[in-house]
Amino acid sequence: MSDPSDRSPPPHTAAKPAAASPDTERLARVIARAGLASRREAERWVQEGRVEVNGVVVWHPGHPVDPARDHVKVDGKPLPPPPPLVYYLLYKPKGTITSREDPDGRKSVIDLVEGLPERVEPVGRLDFNTEGALLLTNDGDLAHALTHPARGVPKRYLAKVWRTPTEKTLERLRRGVYLEDGRTAPALVRVVDDTEAGNCWLEITVTEGRNHLVRRMLETVGHPCNKLRRESFATISIRGMERGEVRALSAEEVARLRDIAEGKDPALAGHAFKYKKGFARPKAQANKPLSRKKAQRRRLSGRSGGPGGKGGGGRKGSGGPTGGGNG
Ligand code: URA
Repeated sequence: MSDPSDRSPPPHTAAKPAAASPDTERLARVIARAGLASRREAERWVQEGRVEVNGVVVWHPGHPVDPARDHVKVDGKPLPPPPPLVYYLLYKPKGTITSREDPDGRKSVIDLVEGLPERVEPVGRLDFNTEGALLLTNDGDLAHALTHPARGVPKRYLAKVWRTPTEKTLERLRRGVYLEDGRTAPALVRVVDDTEAGNCWLEITVTEGRNHLVRRMLETVGHPCNKLRRESFATISIRGMERGEVRALSAEEVARLRDIAEGKDPALAGHAFKYKKGFARPKAQANKPLSRKKAQRRRLSGRSGGPGGKGGGGRKGSGGPTGGGNG
């Protein structure tokens, strides 16, 4: 390894690496998969000159590496073999942050899962004052797919808001409201309960992952929210859990997440349907790619175009505001 005191990239190595072959992966991804760091941290390590491939310091996080043939070392130590992929759900309590470290020293959700044998990362974010469903995994690819804006996975919230919105206001929230970073995508919204003090609990299912999205939507329509809980993420629900509790996902839940990550309708994800003899099967055009807007509307309504026909969604009770999920 080169002298660690000299950690600026030599000019000829700072350029983009050569094109990858089918057997190669990005260097930062290989380091992250070994369970040593998140992808972002691994990228930083590479840029700091702490990583060598086959005895040569490499400065580009996207450098193509064949994990079966190339020898990667971090700080002079070979990478351990990748750990098994694991998936957990945490009922995040309010008053915790979802990033690993905080300059203000606030408590992180990572402190709550310290006892887990594997190093896991939260999938997406929740605000300091929001509680509820937070997935944690070391499967970076799945996490990436589930948080990709184009995937639009459903996230179901309960929000306690000031006063009770009129039907017209609920409709505005459903259709999309204008925020400073653009109009919100269609959402499912309904009043769940009124409180004695004249306020109410709303259930809101959104498909975007913008910062403070739900709070900003509610503020914009004049019903600020003072309590927010995420009931489910991509149909994986905290039902029956206590605040601060963490549980491993079942094999069925992991299969469901993989389906959703691949773009399957959340109402059908994790289900292998059998078509009954004598009943019509969906036409082949069910696989035709939908426009982004149409796909978003379908995900929210739980309408699949699959078995069960219009609005069927295939799952009992899927007509609710959960987007057909289990939340
Ligand atoms: N929307 C918010 O406003 N906050 C969250 O934590 C999640 C969604």
